[in-house]
Amino acid sequence: MDKIIIEGGVPLKGNIEVSGAKNAALPILAATLLTEEKCIIKNVPVLRDVMTMLRILRSLGVKTQMVGNKVIVEPKKCKSYIADYKFVSTMRASICVLGPLLAKKKQAKVSMPGGCIIGQRPVDLHIKGLRALGAKIKVEHGYIDARAKQLRGANIFLGGAYGSSVLATSNVLMSACLAKGKTLIENAACEPEIVDLANFLIKMGAKIQGQGTPLIIIEGVKKLNGATHTVIPDRIEAGTFILAAIITGGDLIIEKARADHLSALFDKLKQVGVSITVRGDTIHAKRKAAVLKPVDITTLPYPGFPTDMQAQMMALASISDGISVLTEKIFPDRFMHVSELNRMGAGIFLEGASAIVKGVKRLSGAPVMASDLRASAALILAGLVAKGKTEISRIYHLDRGYEKIEEKLQKVGAKIKRVKE
Ligand code: EPZ
Repeated sequence: MDKIIIEGGVPLKGNIEVSGAKNAALPILAATLLTEEKCIIKNVPVLRDVMTMLRILRSLGVKTQMVGNKVIVEPKKCKSYIADYKFVSTMRASICVLGPLLAKKKQAKVSMPGGCIIGQRPVDLHIKGLRALGAKIKVEHGYIDARAKQLRGANIFLGGAYGSSVLATSNVLMSACLAKGKTLIENAACEPEIVDLANFLIKMGAKIQGQGTPLIIIEGVKKLNGATHTVIPDRIEAGTFILAAIITGGDLIIEKARADHLSALFDKLKQVGVSITVRGDTIHAKRKAAVLKPVDITTLPYPGFPTDMQAQMMALASISDGISVLTEKIFPDRFMHVSELNRMGAGIFLEGASAIVKGVKRLSGAPVMASDLRASAALILAGLVAKGKTEISRIYHLDRGYEKIEEKLQKVGAKIKRVKE
């Protein structure tokens, strides 16, 4: 397995490019199952999770080809309706083939996704939404087995104990496009990735309104056509690079970004004492004061502060001047990065779903272990500013969601390299 080695203390300077959004690309690739015509998806990041989704599509009899960041999908040969455990166990997001398979093939058998390091990953909202559309669903032997001769539009409330669900909204949205009649999804997820999926479905001929708001209205159609679509930039990767500029006291121009997807982060960074200038699709980020102010964060569904930026923000809070409180309302167990940051000299302790971070002057490099995608990013940020050498192992987690991150950071001065373990 590879590991990443970082020599900390270099302020990052220069231009860094954002890739396409993993969490938009995955459901959009699944949505190609809704048609028998060719689809071309551009700006797809080259990531482990994308490769897994392409393997799933191929296992369903679909022809896929990835040339650079462009994916060509030809689903006419889509014969099977079973998404096997061996794929779903490596990527929870595989669940988003359930809706399109059910709608197109009238049947879907998708392995129950395991939990993962950030906590229990229930699928009750996915099942509730698809049952509301008329699907007969059994959950047995570790598989979700869904059947429906004809899905019918319905009014569905999709809010759960933790608010809206991104992938449950994606699944129900995709199925409703081919259901008979009108569907209303209330308490729908409002994430930009849902909007991007809806925009792709509309290009395929779907009739959708309200994407990006808590109420999405879909008028079912008989058939969807092939389409070409360019995936939106990855707001979490952009946010991670903004924090890389700030934590190192550097000055970065982040290119091909969508600043309008980052309002909650910008709002918090104003409190920290940071200068952010937006010009079109570039974001200029640099620290204003020598000392970073502490910050209080609560993660919430979009447009609230994203849970996928919580770990990275904790790395920044670790060297802020004061006490920060980060409360995780989406995945209350999402704190695997705390013990690793503390190994680097951070002063963090957990109180229920909150992390209390007492800022320290300087972190110190250490051997640490990545545990999940965003925790890995937090350890990179900490390593970039820590004194001395940081070695991060198990970085396959990182490769799931960040395209060529060490190359991108090297280009702006980071002393970072990937070595074979
Ligand atoms: C998506 O996961 C993202 N993944 C996650 O990003 C992200 O953290 C999450 O949304 C929240 O923003 C992809 O888009 C591929 P949820 P998803 O359903 O859809 C509970 C990353 O790092 N819930 O919105 O699986 C759930 O337990 C990944 O890129 C139910 O209770 O998350 C959680 O507490 C990590 N019942 C909350 O809802 C359900 O049926 C939000 O989860 C489904 C979810």
